[in-house]
Amino acid sequence: MNHPLPPWRSPIARALHRNRSLAYARYVQLATVDASHRPENRTMVFRGWLDPVSQLKFVTDIRSTKAINLLAGASDWAEVCWYFPKTREQFRLSGTLTLIAADTTTSHHKARQEAWQQMSDAGRVQFAWETPGADRSADPAALNPPQPDPNQPLDTFCLLLLEAVAVTHLELRGEPQSCYLYELLDGEWQTRSINP
Ligand SMILES: Cc1cc2nc3c(=O)[nH]c(=O)nc-3n(C[C@H](O)[C@H](O)[C@H](O)COP(=O)(O)O)c2cc1C
Repeated sequence: MNHPLPPWRSPIARALHRNRSLAYARYVQLATVDASHRPENRTMVFRGWLDPVSQLKFVTDIRSTKAINLLAGASDWAEVCWYFPKTREQFRLSGTLTLIAADTTTSHHKARQEAWQQMSDAGRVQFAWETPGADRSADPAALNPPQPDPNQPLDTFCLLLLEAVAVTHLELRGEPQSCYLYELLDGEWQTRSINP
């Protein structure tokens, strides 16, 4: 199947390139809603694209609240808010999340494996830490687990994918400011220039 890149991919690629000197330009805010419809928002590292479908890749722990909520059937709707400080532009990507856990039977198995291999040692060992959110253990060994195998993802490790259906791009630079809305309508991306 032919997957043309969605029209918002190149503006984001350009922003990533122009902000490449800032490590934190790859940090985004990911908002979800819990089973009681309350918002939850947290910072996540953008781990690149799942191609050819242009889904955003994140990694997370299966014991995290966001993963537990998704597995329990909470809404899979989410929004990423992504600010690029150097170029002063914001992208908001709204869509649905898919959690790829160790027991996946899908073709995403390989993408999960690759995401694990691409992590640093410091990133990987976090998945061996004690249960997130539980009371801190008094045992120092609990905070210092052995380094996991770089080729064998721990069972706690999940790939988290966001498939966008609407994207807004706000550029503060320029007089006047510009704002674009990209919407997936009947399977086709439509682009509109809107008031900021
Ligand atoms: C700079 C930064 C980057 C982070 N990156 C991630 C990440 O890639 N994946 C992740 O699960 N949590 C990441 N976190 C931690 C989350 O913000 C959050 O605290 C954690 O995932 C628990 O969220 P939850 O209780 O909503 O599941 C990061 C935090 C910071 C400050």
